[in-house]
Formats: sequence, C-alpha cells, structure tokens
Amino acid sequence: MRLAKYLAHAGVASRRAAEDLIRAGRVAVDGEVVDDLGRRLDGGEEVRVDGEVVGGPEERVVWLVHKPAGVVSTARDTHGRPTVVSLVPDAGARLYPVGRLDADTTGLILLTNDGELANRLMHPRYEVPRMYEATVRGGPVAEAALDALRSGVRLDDGVTAPALVRSLGPDRLELVLHEGRKRQVRRMCEAVGHPVVALRRVAFGPLTLGALAEGEARRLEAAEVEALRTAATKE
Ligand code: URA
Repeated sequence: MRLAKYLAHAGVASRRAAEDLIRAGRVAVDGEVVDDLGRRLDGGEEVRVDGEVVGGPEERVVWLVHKPAGVVSTARDTHGRPTVVSLVPDAGARLYPVGRLDADTTGLILLTNDGELANRLMHPRYEVPRMYEATVRGGPVAEAALDALRSGVRLDDGVTAPALVRSLGPDRLELVLHEGRKRQVRRMCEAVGHPVVALRRVAFGPLTLGALAEGEARRLEAAEVEALRTAATKE
C-alpha cells in the first residue's frame, strides 16, 4: 500500500493532505524520513508523523442509529444542533452518515468509516430499498392516491420511480423507495394531497430498526455488513 493511502486509512489526514505531509518531510518510515510519494509499505513498518507513531489502518465499522427528531444527519452542524455521529459511543472512528434523513425524520440511519461501502449504498445503480412509515394528513388515503404513489408522482425534479406502497391505517402509509431524493417521501405524499406529519425510516436494504430504541446505536455484526455489501453489489 502506498504511504499516503496508509496514512489516510489510519485516519491521519485525507489522501491529499497525507501527500503534503510526506512532501514536507514530516513522515518517517522505520526511522528514516520519506519524501517519496511512490513509497510502498508491506505492513510491518513503523510509521511516524512528526515523531508520533501512527497506528495501523483503522478498522472498518458500520453503526446503525435510531435517529430521533431534531438530530441532524450531517457529520457536523453549523447551527450547533446534535448530530447522529454524537449518538455513537465510539469516539475512535471517524464516522460519516450514509445519506441523509431530514432533521424532523426519525428512524434508521447508518454511519460508517468505510467510504467505499457508503458510496455504493448511496449509488442509484444499486437501488438499495428504503422503507418508510408515514403519518399523513387528510386520511383515509384513497386507492387512486396509493396507485399514483406506486406508479410515479411528478415532482419538480422529475417523476418518481415505481414504489411499493400500502396503507397501514386511515392516516398511515408504508412506502418502499429505490431512490433517495431530497425530502422525497414528504414531496410525494404532498403531491397526492396528503402532507406528512411524521416520518420514520424503518428499513434500509436488508437491515431493519428492530427493537432499537430512539437515540440508541448498535454496531453491525460482520454478517450484517456482508448483507449490506451484497445489497450494494447486485447489478
Ligand atoms: N424522504 C423524506 O421526505 N425525508 C427523509 O428524511 C427521507 C425520505
């Protein structure tokens, strides 16, 4: 592995910033300063930045968080609101949310330090399904409105892809979408005359919220991460 990639994996800096550190002569391998960007490591070397030993590449982790309302799903919030990252009891890893939920949406959101997995999960090509439960105004929702939601609703950014939609009660809907546009569920329901009053994501690909309480987080087991990878691999 190239030295800059090693430093990036170890969480020292981004790949580009790691290259700057190397160029600046601040990185030593087995006691010798290395300023060659092409330098490769076998894995057994001792790497230091400014004299400090750098640990091995950071272990890849995925956390499932049950986001409460009022918590933002960006890694940082400029308005000082709590973020989903702060709900994870794992200060060691640099975790990033996989996609977004609106601040007022509750439910399942994944956080990971595995950038490649996150990109795949968000890529439209894999169409990883997301399941939502919506409480709407103006119920009961007529069959014609359900059909419109299923076959595609015209929004200002285009017609929505086919979705699975069923009624859970006079003012409650379950929707399974294969795309993740901004405020999509809210805009779809509004478009058929039933504005959303509460929205919760209950599943993402093969994962469900299960009994995880709001505000809680749990680290995924290896088999669950594997199932996620499979969901984001199918063509
Ligand atoms: N659709 C929405 O409208 N909001 C979300 O947070 C997620 C999906």
